[in-house]
Amino acid sequence: MVKGIEYLTDIIEKCDDALDRLVTLGMSPNNEKQFERRFSVAEAASMVGRTRNTLYRLGEEIGVSPDKNPATNRIIGYKLEQINKMREHFGTSPRRNNDDKCSVIAVQSFKGGVSKSVTTVYLAQYLALKGYRVLIVDCDSQASATSSFGFVPDTTFDIKHTIARFLEGEEEDLNYAIIETYFPGIDLVPSCLPLYETEFDLFNAVSHAESNEERAEYYNEFANAIATVSDRYDVVLMDSPPSLGMISINILVAANAIIVPTPPSLYDFASTAQYFRMVKRVIAGIAPNKEYDFIKVMPSKVERGKARQIDFLNIMRDQFGNSILKSVFALTSAIPNTASLYQTVYDQKKKDTKVLQMLDTLFSELETEIRRSWPSHELALEEEGVI
Ligand SMILES: Nc1ncnc2c1ncn2[C@@H]1O[C@H](COP(=O)(O)OP(=O)(O)OP(=O)(O)O)[C@@H](O)[C@H]1O
Ligand SMILES: [Mg+2]
Repeated sequence: MVKGIEYLTDIIEKCDDALDRLVTLGMSPNNEKQFERRFSVAEAASMVGRTRNTLYRLGEEIGVSPDKNPATNRIIGYKLEQINKMREHFGTSPRRNNDDKCSVIAVQSFKGGVSKSVTTVYLAQYLALKGYRVLIVDCDSQASATSSFGFVPDTTFDIKHTIARFLEGEEEDLNYAIIETYFPGIDLVPSCLPLYETEFDLFNAVSHAESNEERAEYYNEFANAIATVSDRYDVVLMDSPPSLGMISINILVAANAIIVPTPPSLYDFASTAQYFRMVKRVIAGIAPNKEYDFIKVMPSKVERGKARQIDFLNIMRDQFGNSILKSVFALTSAIPNTASLYQTVYDQKKKDTKVLQMLDTLFSELETEIRRSWPSHELALEEEGVI
């Protein structure tokens, strides 16, 4: 039977219904995704940097006490917001000083599927758990990062909710686009499919620009947008599309650090080599004085059991030296498994200690790089023996 418009209309309706049902699977009864993880008194003490006893005493003083099971009166644990309140009270919050500049990081590669979005979301969650204020700017019209926070981008958002409205000159700052996520400490500028039009709009604008100054403006749009809100955040993470276009160039200009996820395989590595060549060309052409606080290749989807991958990783390490992270983002079924429940390993109630350890080791290395760019952290980093 020939299948035409009617058939497609039917499929689209079915898709929409299925999407609605799938989304509610990951939601609480009031239809909102929630951060359900609670932290034991021991965990909270370590996160706050004070003893358990101090936490108990303080609780009474500033009205912070752990959740209890009403039936048994047993302690369930502290909420992340409560831990952050205690961090503030004791001055153990790791946030940057107002004089330090916000760390604006591009998670970028021109290869698809290398773990850019997963890295963006997991790094954001790691940093938020540490008490940093994080903004994710989803710059990819595939909107994977936006979906990870429990949204169905193309039914919930349209172009006016994305960074595009600022670019169209309809807003003075990016505040209109910022939404709180269910994860305390993480805000999001969402994306959705129509953001791909921005690619063409910017390209058109640059092609018709009448002067170099005007052209430069179109490369600086994302930087300008982010600069209007970055004083409220410690870290801004930009999840990038897997291509070189106007959006990716804007991301390069807006960033002051770059993470390049690269699986240890020939094609992925070749693509990273190509990526650096293009970055150099782009930067040399439009922002020759640009400097980054750090540029790090991050081995991603690493399968330790595969000898060939490990050989490859060793060659990458030999060649890249300081420009490659010491730790790796290992391939683990925990990533897709938790995603299928609309969760991540960080917000799962039941702790996956081994995977958490892998993630924490990796992201603490990046956390150090971020802190290195903040003069107010210099002394602490020295005391910790990091620098
Ligand atoms: N460490 C990991 N272990 C297992 N699966 C992973 C891991 N990292 C990423 N994945 C899976 O690989 C796929 C691609 O990951 P992701 O979406 O982060 O890549 P991407 O680089 O953002 O892709 P795109 O270029 O399409 O935006 C996803 O299905 C994700 O769940
Ligand atoms: Mg992606």
